[in-house]
Amino acid sequence: MARRSDVPELLQLTVDGLPLSAMVEPGRTLLRVLRDDLGRTGTKEGCDDSECGACMVLVDGRPVNSCSYLALQAAGREITTVEGLASDDALHPLQRAFLEGGGIQCGFCTPGMLISAAALLARDPDPSEEAIRDGLAGNLCRCTGYQPIIQAVQRAAAEMRAG
Ligand code: FES
Ligand code: FES
Repeated sequence: MARRSDVPELLQLTVDGLPLSAMVEPGRTLLRVLRDDLGRTGTKEGCDDSECGACMVLVDGRPVNSCSYLALQAAGREITTVEGLASDDALHPLQRAFLEGGGIQCGFCTPGMLISAAALLARDPDPSEEAIRDGLAGNLCRCTGYQPIIQAVQRAAAEMRAG
């Protein structure tokens, strides 16, 4: 007989504006459910240990590492993944600025970086360089040296402020 902790429960949540549901064992993480059950593979698995930020998503607007967030904690909540940043087939200003400004090399850190940057700009539309570095402190990048990413966030912030 299955242990109680293995008995799946119905999870209902909203992902990128879509109401979705899945049967989920209590120990499964939001990252696994997003990628394996709900097909949201834009969210990446890096360290699987809350260290790299590759798996970051917004939960009710707050950035969390989905590799260390139990899926059932997300019941009834609004999840935004990197796939939800673009709208009407138009890239988000952050996505455009990363692409055009060299903020993407291998791209593995990019979904998490974009999510952290989007959360930062939602609370601070005109962040200083220090605030951007702080806002992205939970996201590791092995490729870019960070400066092109900082500049991309500054560029996107200016574009968004200009409307
Ligand atoms: Fe979640 Fe690295 S995969 S923090
Ligand atoms: Fe490769 Fe950041 S672009 S890890």
